[in-house]
Amino acid sequence: MAAKSKILIIGGTGYIGKFIVEASTKEGHPTFALVRESSLSDPVKGKLIDNFKNLGVTLLYGDLYDHESLVKAIKQVDVVISTVGHLQLADQVKIIAAIKEAGNVKRFFPSEFGNDVDRVHAVEPAKSAFAIKAQIRRAVEAEGIPHTFVSCNCFAGYFLPTLVQPGVSAPPRDKVIILGDGNPKAIFNNEDDIGTYTIKAADDPRTLNKVLYIRPPKNTYSFNELVALWEKKIGKTLEKTYVSEEQLLKDIQEAPVPINVVLAINHSVFVKGDHTNFEIEPSFGVEASELYPDVKYTTVEEYLDQFV
Ligand SMILES: NC(=O)c1ccc[n+]([C@@H]2O[C@H](COP(=O)([O-])OP(=O)(O)OC[C@H]3O[C@@H](n4cnc5c(N)ncnc54)[C@H](OP(=O)(O)O)[C@@H]3O)[C@@H](O)[C@H]2O)c1
Repeated sequence: MAAKSKILIIGGTGYIGKFIVEASTKEGHPTFALVRESSLSDPVKGKLIDNFKNLGVTLLYGDLYDHESLVKAIKQVDVVISTVGHLQLADQVKIIAAIKEAGNVKRFFPSEFGNDVDRVHAVEPAKSAFAIKAQIRRAVEAEGIPHTFVSCNCFAGYFLPTLVQPGVSAPPRDKVIILGDGNPKAIFNNEDDIGTYTIKAADDPRTLNKVLYIRPPKNTYSFNELVALWEKKIGKTLEKTYVSEEQLLKDIQEAPVPINVVLAINHSVFVKGDHTNFEIEPSFGVEASELYPDVKYTTVEEYLDQFV
């Protein structure tokens, strides 16, 4: 069997990045994390970095805006996974330039981890945010860099603890707001599983130059089905208010940043159905739970139990 590739995560101290770093070590890859020296003194990030050390992660100090540090880090690995946050998405051209200069990278995963940005029907301001990720896709392809784009749909931790309700910290027990008619299907994935599937794809020829969709069958729910599942769990019927698309579009226009971004993403996911309104064609994509049937992923049904 071929040796496991060496994997560098840029943005490993971020929300999704830490799950990918952990998954990489668990899957037995020599794992490297590019960390900013300034983050070491941050109490939360410092702890995370200590945990990385305990997991055997090689820390490489650098910055997206320090070209030499990027090239030096990239030269030591086979696979580069970027999980930088929204403010750095456009600047991933700097990673692309460093990968070109280093010349050794077998696979690059740009920071995506959401909707398939080539197949969204979003309104502003989400539209522009998705467009930046699509531009990075085009730049990666134009440079001929071997790649995988991970479309993992909703992070469970971002959507399920509130059941997509604004301004709450627990799922509702009396009233619930449902976007649109509540029928389009959305997908929710546990962050550990997103990490596992991403890492499994790193050395897999089937995911080369493809979109890896994480669409496990048991994690696909319409808003109405999600509410019905929650009602069953708590043994109670909630009072439902449906927000029409017209009203939601008005709310998006009137909301301040960043609430307008969140609402516009919700519109794409729950009203337009952008997670599931297209088929995955073999010419452009593969589905993770089909490729890796041995992964025992956390289902939405199991995930919600912790809030009952
Ligand atoms: N599907 C969903 O539900 C969902 C939800 C949220 C986000 N996302 C997507 O997931 C991806 C990652 O987002 P996130 O929220 O996980 O990101 P995040 O928590 O904001 O983390 C950003 C990471 O980038 C690092 N970073 C920032 N500036 C850097 C620089 N100059 N040089 C090197 N590293 C730098 C940060 O390092 P420090 O620790 O040093 O600051 C951190 O590790 C994005 O594409 C985002 O759109 C998807």
